[in-house]
Amino acid sequence: MAAEMAGETSGAASTPVVLIHGSGDSAAAWAGVIERLGAWRGRAVALDLPGHGGRLGEPLPEPDTVAGYAGAVRRDLARRGIGRAVVVGHSLGGAIALHLALEAPELVERIALVGAGARMRVLPALLESAGRDPGAAWREAVALGHAPGHEEMAARYAAESAPVAPNALHDDLVACDGFDIMARLGEIGQPALVVVGEVDRLTPPKYAAFLAEGLPHARLVTLPGAGHFAMHEEPEGVAEALRGWLAG
Ligand code: COA
Repeated sequence: MAAEMAGETSGAASTPVVLIHGSGDSAAAWAGVIERLGAWRGRAVALDLPGHGGRLGEPLPEPDTVAGYAGAVRRDLARRGIGRAVVVGHSLGGAIALHLALEAPELVERIALVGAGARMRVLPALLESAGRDPGAAWREAVALGHAPGHEEMAARYAAESAPVAPNALHDDLVACDGFDIMARLGEIGQPALVVVGEVDRLTPPKYAAFLAEGLPHARLVTLPGAGHFAMHEEPEGVAEALRGWLAG
């Protein structure tokens, strides 16, 4: 029994930790968290969605729904030979993690959601500007997504982020806007970690509280002073929450 339990512990520790970025972003979003993951660092696999970052030349996922994006992630995991993972997602990536936990439970051992929600309607003005002027919309989303006082950090993040396809931010936001599993959270049996910045203006703490109350096995961590881009604003806070939860 003791050996079995030890085996389970090391089994969990050897499961890949797959990290999925949010709208208009790339795998680089997770760099600060990954370098602080300690024992799990070597298991971390940060994905670029097609049309984003290292996969800039590839067509965006179709259709532009969370289900369409989750299909692209499933194909990526299959190509990498990953049959089961801890899935960590930021914003759109969190929606993809929730969708996979529901629709492909065999793939998903646990989920960790950073700045996410069971429903993620998007400000109509942001959607419109993402279609018209994606660069300006990205700067606006990143500014809104950082806490007050983090303006310089936000401007740097927006300027230094990896390139994405011209329609990427728009299509990503359309996928978020259509996402709604508020009535289905109780079906998700996997352990879940919900991380939210205390001053997240894009997916406010109310959304995290709803996730933590509705997911049957959830732990909620609120990061003081952080906004929607908590993995950038407070990488140690996000990594600490992940380390503690992965070890538990
Ligand atoms: N968890 C818990 N409650 C939620 C929720 C979630 N994920 N999503 C919506 N709700 C609640 C809202 O708080 C609201 O409650 P209220 O009636 O008590 O105020 C209700 O459900 C309806 O909200 P919503 O579906 O968002 O419609 P809306 O017409 O009230 O507002 C927006 C639309 C776009 C203004 C609003 O969703 C918003 O401000 N979104 C955040 C900004 C954004 O663009 N985020 C990008 C996410 S990627």
